[in-house]
Amino acid sequence: MSKKIVLSGIQPSGNLHIGNYIGALQNWVKIQDEFDCYYFIADWHALTSQYADTSQIKEYVRDVLVNCLAAGLDPNTSTIFQQSRIPEHAELHLLLSMMTPLGWLERVPSYKEKQLEVKDKDLNTYGFLGYPLLQSADILIYRAHFVPVGVDQMPHLEITREIARRFNNFYGEVFPEPDGLLTKFPKVVGTDGRKMSKTYGNCIFLSDSPEEVEQKIRTMTTDPQRIKRTDAGNPELSPVYQLHKVFSSREEQAEVAKGCQTAGIGCIDCKKILIKNVLTLLEPVWEKRRVYLADPDLLEDIIRTGSEKARVAAVKTMEHVREAMGL
Ligand code: TRP
Repeated sequence: MSKKIVLSGIQPSGNLHIGNYIGALQNWVKIQDEFDCYYFIADWHALTSQYADTSQIKEYVRDVLVNCLAAGLDPNTSTIFQQSRIPEHAELHLLLSMMTPLGWLERVPSYKEKQLEVKDKDLNTYGFLGYPLLQSADILIYRAHFVPVGVDQMPHLEITREIARRFNNFYGEVFPEPDGLLTKFPKVVGTDGRKMSKTYGNCIFLSDSPEEVEQKIRTMTTDPQRIKRTDAGNPELSPVYQLHKVFSSREEQAEVAKGCQTAGIGCIDCKKILIKNVLTLLEPVWEKRRVYLADPDLLEDIIRTGSEKARVAAVKTMEHVREAMGL
C-alpha cells in the first residue's frame, strides 16, 4: 500500500529560531519515513507581505533550506522544494480563485488581524487577501492527506477543505480533503518570557554562534521577585525555567526548581545548565549548517532535484484539474 501524502511549507521570512526547530522542523523530520512527504519553502507567500523589498528573499530561502537539512530532513526521503519553481501552484491558485467567494477569504482571522498588527506595510492588496487560497493550492496540488501545522494555521486548512469540497461538487472528485496533523509540542518562550518571535527580538536563532547563545541566556530575565541570591524564587515566574522544561532532563528540571525555591542555587548556575543543554542540542545542527553553507552547488542541486520531483506530481494533478473543468 502506498504511503499517505504529507505536505507542509515554511515561509522564508528571516532566520529560523529554536522555537521553529522544536515546533515544526523536528516534527517534519520525525514523520518523514512514515509518509510520502513534500516540504517546501513558500517564497511566494513571503511576497504577500514583503513585496516592496525583495532584496533578502534569496538569502532567506537559502537559510531555510540549510536549516531544514541541518535539522535532519533527508532529500532522498522527503521531497524538498521551492514554491516559485513550480508554476503550476500559480495556475491552480488562479483556477481556484474563480470559484472562491470573497467572503470566505475576508473572514479568515489572520486577514484582518495581520492588517491591523502590521503597520509598516500596506497589506491592502489582492495578493494578501489571496494568501490562504495560495496555501490551498499548495496543499491540493499534491493531493495531500495530512498537513502538519500549528494551531494558528488551522483556519487556512479549514478553507482548503471548503475549497476542495466546492471544486469536487462542481467538477467531480479530484481533491481529497486534507486533515491537519496537529502535533503537541512544547511552547518555546523567548529570552524575555513572551512567545519566541522575530517581531519581539527575543529569539535564539539556529544561525547564532555558541557565544551568542550563551550571551542571550546569561542576560535572560528570571523571577523578578528574586532579587538577592539568598531570596527564594518561584521558578514558574522565570522564563529560564520555561526553557528548562523544553531543553533539560526531568532530573535537571527538578533540581533547578528546588534550587530556586530554596535559594540553593543562584540564577547563574541555573542558566549554566540551560546553556549546556541548548548548546548540546544545537551542536549537531551547527555542524551540518557549516557543511551545507560551504557548498552552494550542493544546495542548488538538492532544491533543483526536489523541485523537479515535486513538479512531476503537480503537473499530473493539473492535467486532471483541466480535464475535470473542461479546459
Ligand atoms: N502559511 C504557512 C505559515 O506561515 C506557510 C505555508 C504556505 C504552508 N503554504 C503552506 C503550510 C501549505 C502548510 C501547507 O506557516
